[in-house]
Amino acid sequence: MKKVYIAMSADIIHNGHINIIKEGLKYGDVIIGLLTDKAIASYKRMPLLSFEERKAIFENIKGVKEVVSQDTLDYKNNLEKIKPDYVVHGDDWRTGVQRNIRQNVIEILKKWDGKLIEVPYTKDISSTTLEMEARNVLNTPDYRRSKLKKLLDLKPFVSVMEASNGLTGLIVENSKVVDEEKGTIKEFDAMWVSSLCDSSFKGKPDIELVDLTSRLNTIEEIMEVTTKPIILDGDTGGKAEHFTYNVRTLERLGVSAIIIEDKTGLKQNSLFGTEAKQVLDDPHLFAQKIRAGKKAQVTKDFLIFARIEALIAGYGIDEAILRAKIYIEEGLADGIMIHSKEKDGKEIKEFLKQFREYSKEIPVILVPTSYNQFTEEELHEWGANIIIHANHMLRSAYPAMKNCAESVLKHHRSLEASEDYCIGIKEVLSLIPGTKQ
Ligand code: SPV
Ligand code: MG
Repeated sequence: MKKVYIAMSADIIHNGHINIIKEGLKYGDVIIGLLTDKAIASYKRMPLLSFEERKAIFENIKGVKEVVSQDTLDYKNNLEKIKPDYVVHGDDWRTGVQRNIRQNVIEILKKWDGKLIEVPYTKDISSTTLEMEARNVLNTPDYRRSKLKKLLDLKPFVSVMEASNGLTGLIVENSKVVDEEKGTIKEFDAMWVSSLCDSSFKGKPDIELVDLTSRLNTIEEIMEVTTKPIILDGDTGGKAEHFTYNVRTLERLGVSAIIIEDKTGLKQNSLFGTEAKQVLDDPHLFAQKIRAGKKAQVTKDFLIFARIEALIAGYGIDEAILRAKIYIEEGLADGIMIHSKEKDGKEIKEFLKQFREYSKEIPVILVPTSYNQFTEEELHEWGANIIIHANHMLRSAYPAMKNCAESVLKHHRSLEASEDYCIGIKEVLSLIPGTKQ
């Protein structure tokens, strides 16, 4: 019997996939190369179903001889090992992100005279639409909450953008950039509910004035229209006795993680640095607060990160490292966020160097607002696992809205503002998915 190799990633199987398998069966024994969760996450969103679940589905499709794992987007390793006589694929990959992968497959097959068979793409079904529908239905609190931990396992680093209301949540949920050369689709992995932005959108200062009930309303609003995991900026976490309650509330809602900072007294935004009075908490007391939260949580996938403000308050790297160790060893924190407002990124790089000598595994979060010249990849090289773009929806919306307001005041009409600063009404009407019934 000839060998037929078909790579698949799908977790929602439709007749398009069955057609490809049926076509393969005409040529010989069908071996499915099932992309691992890691391979899928390297070029698009994490799959809905796990590898094991998807494997069980494919193993039970009539005619499938074997399901093997394909660990990379590239077919190379599996093709060279299996040396199939045929590879079957839909013809949709001739253009777009998979173009280069297709070319590689053709080159490799040539080595043993293997052939690529292309099946006309099933046009009336869109996996993307099906997947989006399924994501909404499957988006239970349990499912959403567990996603951040999974992403930390699957991806080299997790890319996070601020979301402060339903609309910014939708932008973070749906924004995509296709890189045809690399064959990847880059999306944000998660959302950051920032205290600075949540407060600023409400016209309030970032001093823990917007209370948790109000913060929870923001989270609910975002959750109603999105599926990505949420990391909450929990400010100082308040009193330890309150923090334990709040951890359970957040878990119940489906929030994936909270970050609390080791400051006390009236909290001031960190980006003021030493221009504001930044009072650091006693590290052992702070560790006890984290530990109380860890003990209170009911699920296994909720994460509590300790945010170290020693660099912000001007105490230097030694103090920051000392605190990191206390928060992990005494506090049982799931990870560390190290913050800095220095522009050159040097103290962050040095902190990571020293921290990585202490632990290779423990996740570290960075918020590179001041040192934004470094790419996510560079920060990952330094040792970061989660990179939060903490305030960029707010900061881009504000000047656009201000210019618009001033234009109307200047011209006594909205013509100029509409032309210069506004999207068209038609675009507004179609901005929110599912508006037209
Ligand atoms: C926030 O986004 O509210 C933060 C990060 O806490 S920072 O503003 O840099 O302190
Ligand atoms: Mg904050």
